[in-house]
Amino acid sequence: MALALLITGCNGQLGSELVRQARAASDIAFSRGIDLPEVDLTDPFAVRDTVHEWARVVRSDSPDHKLVVLNPAAYTAVDKAEEQEDLAYAVNATAPALLATACKEAGAWLAQVSTDYVFPGDGTVPYEPDDPKGPTNAYGRTKLAGELAIQEILPDASWIVRTAWLYGAGGPNFVKTMARLERERETLTVITDQVGSPTWAGDLARGLLTLARSDAPAGAYHGTNRGSTSWHGFAKAIFEELGADPARVHPTTAANFPTPATRPAYSVLSPAAWDGAGLPPFPGWREALAEAFRVEGPALRT
Ligand SMILES: NC(=O)c1ccc[n+]([C@@H]2O[C@H](COP(=O)([O-])OP(=O)(O)OC[C@H]3O[C@@H](n4cnc5c(N)ncnc54)[C@H](OP(=O)(O)O)[C@@H]3O)[C@@H](O)[C@H]2O)c1
Repeated sequence: MALALLITGCNGQLGSELVRQARAASDIAFSRGIDLPEVDLTDPFAVRDTVHEWARVVRSDSPDHKLVVLNPAAYTAVDKAEEQEDLAYAVNATAPALLATACKEAGAWLAQVSTDYVFPGDGTVPYEPDDPKGPTNAYGRTKLAGELAIQEILPDASWIVRTAWLYGAGGPNFVKTMARLERERETLTVITDQVGSPTWAGDLARGLLTLARSDAPAGAYHGTNRGSTSWHGFAKAIFEELGADPARVHPTTAANFPTPATRPAYSVLSPAAWDGAGLPPFPGWREALAEAFRVEGPALRT
């Protein structure tokens, strides 16, 4: 069955990669990308009209297409969200609820991209999708509210895919920041006491498109590159990819880098549910970083 996609946040880091890969895929019959200012996902009328019009156009071409809305759009400014929780809630919770309602009416599936920050981060083993939640910051609270709304409105036709530590050509991210600091400074200090799984947007987009094609049951999944490291370990690996000496990256602790939003100390996500659904495993994070530099090195160095 051919697939038709509606991709939100198409100018964002993950959304732009999803659109690029969808347009290159021969089995994806119709993909449309939307973003601000054309469609504001917090506007109920805009969401309803956009989803219904997309479904109508796809069905007029072929009634057999599987319709999937991919929603990476989000309010992603983690620190600013502490001051703007209402705005973050509108984008991260209200908008997914509006999309879920429109998908239900249109007979479409919804894949919602969510975050490791829904967990408390005090664990020592990878979080399973159904482990107890406990966001430590406003951004995480709003993303969790979005997950819960979708699961209530569209329980049988929605996937929640939590990711973490995302980087790619299309966005500001840690890799680009390290590349800039490598040029500007002889040494830098990066924290060791937050651990997670750096995830390349290229791999996550591939995983989401595979999920959209699949018969994986509705529910929550984790989509990150495999393995884990600290921000310090990640920074050293980035220096290696840049051809710079990783010894220039010195360790420090989060206490020396206070931020408005508290970050989880441990946010490694278990791939067991993803693997259990028969979906192809994500590559390891170190291998993915090398591949990202091979494929889109110039953009990551800017
Ligand atoms: N980045 C990470 O490290 C990370 C980690 C874990 C999970 N995630 C999740 O992964 C997903 C993708 O992240 P990303 O880094 O690709 O995000 P991003 O680059 O910030 O892209 C988000 C996109 O959503 C758009 N958007 C914001 N408000 C909107 C609205 N009201 N209506 C329509 N579009 C709106 C943004 O437009 P503007 O730019 O114009 O605002 C932007 O194009 C998000 O759901 C995020 O929560 C990210």
